[in-house]
Amino acid sequence: MWDSQTLLAAYEVMRRLRLDRFAGVVSAGKEARVYRAIGRDGREYAVKIYLTATAEFRKSIYKYLLGDPRFQHVDISNTKKLFAAWARKEFRNLKRMHEVGVSVPKPYMVYQNIIVMEFIGREGLRAPLLHEIQNELTREEARDIYDQVVDNYRRIYCCAKLVHADMSEYNIMLLDDKIYIIDVAQAVSLEHPNAKDFLLNDARNISRFFSKLGVSDANDVDNVLREMTLCEEVNCLDASGKRQEKNQTGVPGDNY
Ligand SMILES: Nc1ncnc2c1ncn2[C@@H]1O[C@H](COP(=O)(O)OP(=O)(O)O)[C@@H](O)[C@H]1O
Ligand SMILES: [Mg+2]
Repeated sequence: MWDSQTLLAAYEVMRRLRLDRFAGVVSAGKEARVYRAIGRDGREYAVKIYLTATAEFRKSIYKYLLGDPRFQHVDISNTKKLFAAWARKEFRNLKRMHEVGVSVPKPYMVYQNIIVMEFIGREGLRAPLLHEIQNELTREEARDIYDQVVDNYRRIYCCAKLVHADMSEYNIMLLDDKIYIIDVAQAVSLEHPNAKDFLLNDARNISRFFSKLGVSDANDVDNVLREMTLCEEVNCLDASGKRQEKNQTGVPGDNY
């Protein structure tokens, strides 16, 4: 199932992060598989490996990668390079979000078509997606989760200067009542020509899901959109706790 290059890359990742073993497939998607891995110190990691270039994946490259000023010069002439660019994009987006305090899995490394991040779950089991537990949520719980989603989205937009572009109940996990936003490969910087459309689509998804669960603030898409982008309400912090420039114009320095 893994080609020899992926196998070699996986060995290199294991060596660098001192991983002991892979311990099962967490998810087998169309393009990527997510594995649980265990470090020599017993710590759990999530390892996402891009393996299959579907037609949809190739379309995504045009839609989300080439329009992003950070990735305009990527050589997309071969599949291996495509995967590497896509994995790097996911890692950089994760890192940029993590640095400004968005609740995402902590990113550890990217190597070729492999991304390693914090495992969101407990005792070997991944945390559920919002989609999987929607019927068990009370209205109050849904309201609290909605507030977290809006709060985190503000950080994505106002501090990381990104738009998630695939925000839905399928890409949000819940562990101990705290949300984690995942699957950020397609997130684009605000300068992407379609950033506004992607943002509106994210607002629509959030509105649809939470209004169904009885969160009245979510009924109106325009209201959700306004709340998601209310930058006066957010104090952008970097990982060291320093305040970042609030009224930055354009995209902050992209130095990784
Ligand atoms: N950091 C993580 N910790 C635990 N499980 C994860 C993690 N990241 C992803 N997963 C699991 O893998 C699934 C697929 O990951 P995702 O990044 O959404 O990729 P896809 O592009 O296949 O949707 C998620 O729905 C979730 O169940
Ligand atoms: Mg997903």
